[in-house]
Amino acid sequence: MRKPLVAGNWKMNNPTESPRTLLQNILHSAHMLDSILSSSENALPIDIALFPPSVYLREAQEVLSGSRLQWGTQNVSAYDEGPYTGEISASMIKGFGCHYVLIGHSERRCLYEKLELDQYVLDQIVAEKYAQAINNDLTPIICIGETEDDYESGKTEEVIARLLDILIAHKGPKALANVVLAYEPVWAIGSGKSATPEWAQSVHSFMRQRIAKHDQASSESVRIIYGGSVKAHNAAAIFCQADVDGGLIGGASLDAEEFIQICFGAT
Ligand code: G3P
Repeated sequence: MRKPLVAGNWKMNNPTESPRTLLQNILHSAHMLDSILSSSENALPIDIALFPPSVYLREAQEVLSGSRLQWGTQNVSAYDEGPYTGEISASMIKGFGCHYVLIGHSERRCLYEKLELDQYVLDQIVAEKYAQAINNDLTPIICIGETEDDYESGKTEEVIARLLDILIAHKGPKALANVVLAYEPVWAIGSGKSATPEWAQSVHSFMRQRIAKHDQASSESVRIIYGGSVKAHNAAAIFCQADVDGGLIGGASLDAEEFIQICFGAT
């Protein structure tokens, strides 16, 4: 049985209150959720992880250490430490007590696209970042999603399969056993227009079946979460789908109360 994961991606947003206050408010609300749900200590039935901008990692570590909440970064370098200005290495991220790293978010892909790198090259970079995370005992959350053009032209499965196949080709049939995949249709991110539960389920099922062609056990253990305009009002309907294992939340993760309501929807 896969344990659901709800992750809050703050992006490059400053909370209205201080980052430390938002972290404390989310932690307090999670304790309340825990006391409502758990029959015994440490029984929070879902994983909750927060992804503040990297400059707030020290606050995350100080506030969340010792709790059941986890934290991570929104990106990781494809390189080991060295002369890579502006990059942050996986080993440095691990040093802040992080558990996860987001890899390949569409908002980062579009930064590279200005360099006119083709999607295949971007997928290769994702595979290199995946290796850095795994080699440093960080769990990758690999983001995959189609653009509106791809969606309209029926290329969703082609886009999804391309990245899954590259990761498996590079890293072996069991490459995805212990990672998290985040299906984030680009047209749903920040638009207020989430995918329907049925659409999310159909794409998640396709992803799981694609992985099963290489390794059945991996297809059953990989957690596939959905992201794209998840809010308190729609979370439960999406999260209850058979192949949806939680969510990657953007805007709503900056509001402690709504974020915990979304977490409740995954229980
Ligand atoms: O990484 C999650 C993000 O892309 C979704 O953003 O604001 O649509 O929940 P949002």
